[in-house]
Amino acid sequence: MNFKHRDVISIKDFTKEEIEYILEYTKRMIPYATGEKHTTLLKQQILATLFFEPSTRTRLSFESAMHRLGGNVIGFAEPSGTSQKKGESLADTIRMADSYSDAIVIRHPQEGAARLAAEFSEAPIVNAGDGAGQHPTQCLLDLFTIQTEKKNIKGKNVILLGDLKYGRTVHSLAYALALFKANLTFVSPETLKMPKEVIQECKEFGVEPVSTTNLEKAIKEADVLYATRIQKERFPDAEEYNRVVGSYKVSTALLQQAKEDLIVMHPLPRVVEIDPDVDKTNHAVYFTQAFNGLPVRMALLSLILGGKT
Ligand code: CP
Repeated sequence: MNFKHRDVISIKDFTKEEIEYILEYTKRMIPYATGEKHTTLLKQQILATLFFEPSTRTRLSFESAMHRLGGNVIGFAEPSGTSQKKGESLADTIRMADSYSDAIVIRHPQEGAARLAAEFSEAPIVNAGDGAGQHPTQCLLDLFTIQTEKKNIKGKNVILLGDLKYGRTVHSLAYALALFKANLTFVSPETLKMPKEVIQECKEFGVEPVSTTNLEKAIKEADVLYATRIQKERFPDAEEYNRVVGSYKVSTALLQQAKEDLIVMHPLPRVVEIDPDVDKTNHAVYFTQAFNGLPVRMALLSLILGGKT
């Protein structure tokens, strides 16, 4: 299995066996992620983090991952302080980052931006979210969380809830969960349904997702509830957003209808879709899930930058 110098643009770039390998390798990274053990595996290597869109978890965990591996980080958290402001093209910004670093992590509001960046960079490109497109490292940490919390993914009843139309995390995750043969239920407002092409991809793996607007009914049989934010910034029309915001709220009352061992996940940030009271229940795993981003990204950086495996 060879990961060295590979771009990571979409979860579809990996085979099932490669994903399983990354998840297994992630387990070995946990004592390094917590600071219990130390390593200089990526000493002298430089990661560029180019964030054209806001981020808390993805940027900080990538930067922490590189530091924990003994490497260095350059980059920006928003483009206003860069020469993009003077009209520089994305291609030229990427060429520069390529010449200053060994790998580039990019988040951009435009779908396809990471794929485009890869055309202008010798250094491997990692997609940290491209508009409503893909978020492959989020997908890996989501899979790792389900596998850790539920022992395996195959046969688990998973609900993807919320903004399934514009949500890049659920686009990547639906594909991967189908690859791993989970049972899928898509719960969303009528106007934010999962795109047909994602449903078709699931069917090609022999998984027949159920689409519904009824969360109360779906939650009774679920093992995993993966909630997402309705993303105001993706709506072309504010009226359309206002019509659907607050459509679903995961509350302790709702969870009384669920299995005792249901886990509630969320890629975060959350706004109104999970009541803070849920944080205190055994169902809530979203903060652990966010932590898992660190060992997952450490594993991925180690593999693509050619550290020891
Ligand atoms: N889950 C996620 O991508 O979070 P951030 O937007 O904070 O990076």
